Amino acid sequence: MENAKLQLNGKTYDLPAFAGSENEVALDISKLRAQSGAITYDPGYGNTGSCKSAITFIDGDLGILRYRGYPIEQLAEHSTFSETAYLLIYGELPNKETLRRFREDLAHSSFIHEKMVRLLDHFPLNAHPMGVLASLVAAMATFYPNHGDEDQMDTHVRRLLGGVKTIAAYSYKQSIGAPFVYPKRDLGYCANLLWLLFGTPAEDYVVSPILDRAMNTLLILHADHEQNCSTSTVRMAGSSQADIYSSVSAGIGALSGPLHGRANQEVIEMLEMIQADGGNYKKYVDLAKKKDSNFRLMGFGHRVYKNFDPRAKIIKKTADEVLTALGVRDPLLEVAKGLEEVALHDDFFIERKLYPNVDFYSGIIYRAMGFPVNMFTALFAIGRMPGWIAHWMEMRKDPDGRIHRPRQIYTGPTERAYPNGKTPRA
Ligand code: CMC
Repeated sequence: MENAKLQLNGKTYDLPAFAGSENEVALDISKLRAQSGAITYDPGYGNTGSCKSAITFIDGDLGILRYRGYPIEQLAEHSTFSETAYLLIYGELPNKETLRRFREDLAHSSFIHEKMVRLLDHFPLNAHPMGVLASLVAAMATFYPNHGDEDQMDTHVRRLLGGVKTIAAYSYKQSIGAPFVYPKRDLGYCANLLWLLFGTPAEDYVVSPILDRAMNTLLILHADHEQNCSTSTVRMAGSSQADIYSSVSAGIGALSGPLHGRANQEVIEMLEMIQADGGNYKKYVDLAKKKDSNFRLMGFGHRVYKNFDPRAKIIKKTADEVLTALGVRDPLLEVAKGLEEVALHDDFFIERKLYPNVDFYSGIIYRAMGFPVNMFTALFAIGRMPGWIAHWMEMRKDPDGRIHRPRQIYTGPTERAYPNGKTPRA
C-alpha cells in the first residue's frame, strides 16, 4: 500500500499506510510530531486507532459485529456466555473438556472472600450497584495480590469473571435487605447469577430455562465492542502497568456514565416519563432535536453504527420472545416501539443516521425478568467483563504498546507574572 503524503508549511511528510485483516486502512502518524512538530487533533478519538486488535471486528456501515471472526448472530443463538467469554479471552472456542473445566472454575471462583462480603455493610443502603462494583473490584487487588505473576493470570481472570456477578448480586440483595445465598457449583454462569440474585436460603428457587437462555443471550451481546469508552479506559489504565483489577475497576467507572452503559437505565426512565405524559412520542422526538433542551433520545445513536446496531436487532426480537414466554405484557414495550417508529421517520434522525442501539430494548427484557432498574448497568458490566479482560491481556503483549499519553493543544493564558507582593490565596 502506498504511503500517504502530508504537506505542511512547504514540507512533505510520508505517513505509512497499512490495512487490517478486513481491509480497514490506517495512516501511521506516530512519528509525525517528531518529524514536523505538529500533532493531530481528534476530540473524542472518533478517527483515531489507538491499537491493533485481533479481538472484535465491527463494520458500522454494514451493521456487522464479530468476536474473533464469529458473527454475533451465530454466537447469540448457539453459544453460552461462558463459551463466548473463553473465546474472547483465549482466541479460540474451547473444546468440550476445556469448556467443562472453565465452567467449573467459574463456579468455584464465584465464591468471594468473606471479608469482601463484609465490606458491603459499609455502603449506604441505596448505593448504586455500579459504585459498589467499581469499589469492590478495585478492592480485589488487595485481597488477591501477585497480580504481576504471569502464571497467576488465569486465576485472576477466573476470579474477575466469577466474582463480578457475586458482587453485583450481593449489592442488589443488600439494597433490598434480603439475605445472601452462596453460589452453587453445579449451576452454569447465568443460572448461578439468577440464583444469587433471586434465590433465598429459605425457599427453593428453580432457575427458569427461559430466563437462563435470555441471560446468556444478553450477556453474549454485551461481551465486547472493541475500543468503546470503558474498554479504552481499561487499556489506558493498564498501559501504565496497573494491575488487572484496578484497570477493570476504572472501566466500570467509565461504563457507569449515561452516554455509555447507564443508557439502559436511562431508557426505562425516559419511557416511563413519556408514558406518564400520555405517550406523545412526537413531543419527545422534537425535544431531542433541540440542542438547548439537554434531552437526547436515550438508547438512540452510536459512534460506530450508522445503519443499524446488530445487537439491537437481536434484542428487539428477544424482548418479544421473552415477554411472550413469561406471559408479561409490558406497556413500555409499546411505548418503545411507538417512539422508535416516530424517530426512524424523522429527518433529523435519518440525516444523522441515528438508530436504536443495544440499550434501547435491553431494559424491557431486564424488567420482565424481574431486575430493578438500577441493576441494569451492573448487568452490562458483568457482560462486558470478558471484553475488558481480553483487551487488557492483549494490550500487555502488544509489541507496539506504550503508556497511553495523548497530547493536547494548549489554549490557556500565555506566560504571565505572579502579582507582586499580593497573596491571592489569603
Ligand atoms: N438524540 C438526539 N440527538 C442525537 C442523539 C440522540 N440520542 N445521538 C446523537 N445525536 C445527534 C447529536 O446532537 C449530533 O447532532 P449535530 O450533528 O447536529 O450536532 C449528531 O447526532 C452526532 O452526535 P454525537 O454526539 O456527535 O455522536 P457521538 O458519536 O459523539 O455520540 C452517543 C454517540 C451514543 C454518545 C450518542 O449518540 C448519544 O448520546 N446517544 C444517547 C445515549 C446512548 O444511548 N448511549 C448508549 C450507546 S450504545 C451502548 C454503549 O456503548 O454503552
